[in-house]
Amino acid sequence: MGKALIVYSTRTGETKNIAELIAEGIRISGTKATLINVTSLKNEKDLDGYDAYVFGSATYHGEMIQGMKKMLFISEKANLEGKIGGSFGAFGWSGEAPGRIFETMKYIFKMDMVSGPLLLKSSILGGATVMAQDYGREIAKKINVS
Ligand SMILES: Cc1cc2nc3c(=O)[nH]c(=O)nc-3n(C[C@H](O)[C@H](O)[C@H](O)COP(=O)(O)O)c2cc1C
Repeated sequence: MGKALIVYSTRTGETKNIAELIAEGIRISGTKATLINVTSLKNEKDLDGYDAYVFGSATYHGEMIQGMKKMLFISEKANLEGKIGGSFGAFGWSGEAPGRIFETMKYIFKMDMVSGPLLLKSSILGGATVMAQDYGREIAKKINVS
């Protein structure tokens, strides 16, 4: 069975809600999903042993949350090359964080990324629940064909 790790960074919980829905989508597909808050990640060893990595942060003042920036520097040491990747985050109007995370995973870590980052204003409005679960399904599907 494949294994996915979801690491999220949130201030008011919305990005955590999205992370939980992505995890649901992964699990529905028969793949294991582990969810952790970026604040409990200590070093690159915590990233060992997964087939896919999904990193998420909310956007504040046009940027990802500081803890996620730090986590990306930790990830640089984890040799994620060729691993499946995706990114997500809650946002209000501009939503820079998920795209920045996605580009870092793609161009710096050289990961095998899904179609694009997932940006949601809320985990419940306008079909967002299904979109987040579908994102999880997309991650699981990529694990299962590789
Ligand atoms: C002080 C402040 C600054 C924000 N800056 C941005 C921003 O630059 N771009 C954006 O898209 N959303 C911005 N937002 C909206 C948050 O990204 C949004 O509320 C999001 O749902 C928070 O997610 P979280 O609950 O995971 O922290 C800002 C919110 C606050 C309170």
